[in-house]
Amino acid sequence: MSNFIERFKTSERVLHWVVTCSFFTLLLSGLGLFSRLFNGYFNLFGGGSSAILVHKIAGVVFFASSVYMFLNHKKDVTTFDEDDKAWIDARGGYLSREERHFNIGKYNPGQKLFAIFIYAATITLGVTGIMIWMPLTFPRWLVQISLMLHGLMFVGSIMFVIVHVYLATIGNPGTIEAMLYGDVRRIWARKHHPKWYKEVGEDNP
Ligand code: HEM
Repeated sequence: MSNFIERFKTSERVLHWVVTCSFFTLLLSGLGLFSRLFNGYFNLFGGGSSAILVHKIAGVVFFASSVYMFLNHKKDVTTFDEDDKAWIDARGGYLSREERHFNIGKYNPGQKLFAIFIYAATITLGVTGIMIWMPLTFPRWLVQISLMLHGLMFVGSIMFVIVHVYLATIGNPGTIEAMLYGDVRRIWARKHHPKWYKEVGEDNP
């Protein structure tokens, strides 16, 4: 029996990395637009107008890929059961000094809430982005509200993504292998996602 089991298909991993690359391209090309303090970041793209063009293209790629990724695993991330409730009540055990174990399926509730937040942020950033893109088509007040929401959602997304990257790498060793190779160690699956492992991994050689 192999020590590894499949967690993500190649197509799922490619999609995740398209979302990630477009997200960080948006971050770098958008920083100079967010505040004058970050105007220096325009140089990465050869000037302000090229940065705006890159931002628009990356925005379309991010919107399409992020919505598709959410729809792909909508069922897994939008259903919460009793075991998830126990995880939420204990805050995932992150604030406890003792090691806690939960009967978690493919994703834990923290991951589910993150996926739902990213979807909501994608829709908000996309809709407000269109209004900022074509300011003369929409009423002035709507464009102003859009500018505010776009900035707020940008800051919120960065904060959640920093936590996501930490938990997927240093915080939970072995997790990154799922997105790099598609396979995870059985011992990792039994520890972090025992219910999912029972469903897909136990009899799978
Ligand atoms: C260098 C940056 C990133 C790394 C290292 C990373 C890593 C990972 C890993 C390892 C997983 C699988 C977790 C598991 O199997 O349990 C995952 C899932 C996921 N990632 Fe990322 N990711 C990154 C950036 C992003 C970005 C920028 C977004 C969205 C804006 C994102 C959205 C998601 C979502 C929605 C999932 C599925 C739900 C979840 O596990 O939270 N990731 N990521």
